[in-house]
Amino acid sequence: MLLNKRLIVGVCGGIASYKAIELVSRLQQAGALVDVIMTDHAQEFIRPLTFATVSQRPVYHNLWEPSGQAAELHIALAEQAELLAIVPATANTLAKLAHGIADNMLTAVALATKAPLLLAPAMYKGMYEHAATQVNLSILRERGASIVEPEVGHLASGAIGVGRLPELSVLMGAISMIVGRKGDLAGRRVVVTAGGTQEPIDPVRYVGNRSSGKMGYALATVARDRGAHVTLISGPVALEVPYGIELCKVETAIQMRDAVGSAITDADVLVMNAAVADFRPIAPASRKIKKNETRGSGEQGEFSLYLTRNPDILAELANADYEGSVKRLRRLIRVGFAAETHDVITHAQAKMAAKRLDLLVANDVSRLDSGFGTDTNKVYLFHANGDMEDLPVMPKIDVATAIWDRVVSLLS
Ligand code: PMT
Repeated sequence: MLLNKRLIVGVCGGIASYKAIELVSRLQQAGALVDVIMTDHAQEFIRPLTFATVSQRPVYHNLWEPSGQAAELHIALAEQAELLAIVPATANTLAKLAHGIADNMLTAVALATKAPLLLAPAMYKGMYEHAATQVNLSILRERGASIVEPEVGHLASGAIGVGRLPELSVLMGAISMIVGRKGDLAGRRVVVTAGGTQEPIDPVRYVGNRSSGKMGYALATVARDRGAHVTLISGPVALEVPYGIELCKVETAIQMRDAVGSAITDADVLVMNAAVADFRPIAPASRKIKKNETRGSGEQGEFSLYLTRNPDILAELANADYEGSVKRLRRLIRVGFAAETHDVITHAQAKMAAKRLDLLVANDVSRLDSGFGTDTNKVYLFHANGDMEDLPVMPKIDVATAIWDRVVSLLS
């Protein structure tokens, strides 16, 4: 998504400025053309050579160099930029930006550019909480700047409080989201389900499955980076919440059905990637079941668990009456998944027809490089007109891209 994007990373003089090195390196590895502009104070912490090495481009800092080239260059940089991200943004630079002061290369470019502005403030908590900084941030926010809020934690001063630069994944997420704002899913609302459901047996045990959430989280992230407003309805997983995504956490199939029902009322697309348990224990115990308790036949060492069928969320949505009852204003594109261990194509075609889907993604979960918990997936795509595509094994992020490509065609 960041390939060949022209980004400027502005670095101010704060202790967190060393973290900008890793950020620039990651952006460069993602294929972006990153121009770094440092303030004089940033150079007290880090030398320009460090940024020049990781960005593989010149680094700018002196607006006043005698040839006058920098003065011309700041206009060119400002015009070409697709994003100006200031990481870390100090209280001093925020104050200058809020009041239109342009006394160095970074603030001059910030004043000259029409590119979106992303600010990641990081400083001592007293400076961050000071009324002057807060007013300056409100001014900048009102003017359209995106602010990535600092985190609470250990600060360089030794104090614990607000002011830490957010993790790299958050900064990368914010940059990708802003750069992709006008992508081919701009203005679309999409709902993605991810992970597996957990159906309680008692307060400590459940019936579940091996879904890690990786495929669903990749789908949500790619949609965000193509401009969509994303609601991610997730079963319990151990993944970081992607930046800029509306997360709704659920545990059971019933909770997932309710969450999907409310989220789709104004959505354009539903991607049901979650591995929803088909059955749940009929009567979960209210207290922990003890080892020596017997149920069912009463035979020593046996324990029977009675299950009842869960609602099939996608199948319910195939029913025209249900669509009518949620008063849909637009047609909902429905994408389903099928996890199969054998006869993948036959089973997938049957599900496609039964659930009346626009697109079905069948993964062969018998393979070691595909399905539950893996970083890659091998999928077949089934289209409503009967066409089938056989995609090679790919990282889940690339599978997600392929799926959204097909959805974009359906939307248009
Ligand atoms: O999370 P990962 O580790 O990355 O793994 C990803 C995955 C393998 C879980 C994912 O790619 C996947 O295949 N998800 C669907 C698994 C599944 O439950 O398939 P199914 O054949 O049982 O269900 C078919 C479709 O109906 C699915 O879209 C499912 O979300 C939906 N369904 C199923 C049961 C149910 N009660 N309600 C539903 O809506």
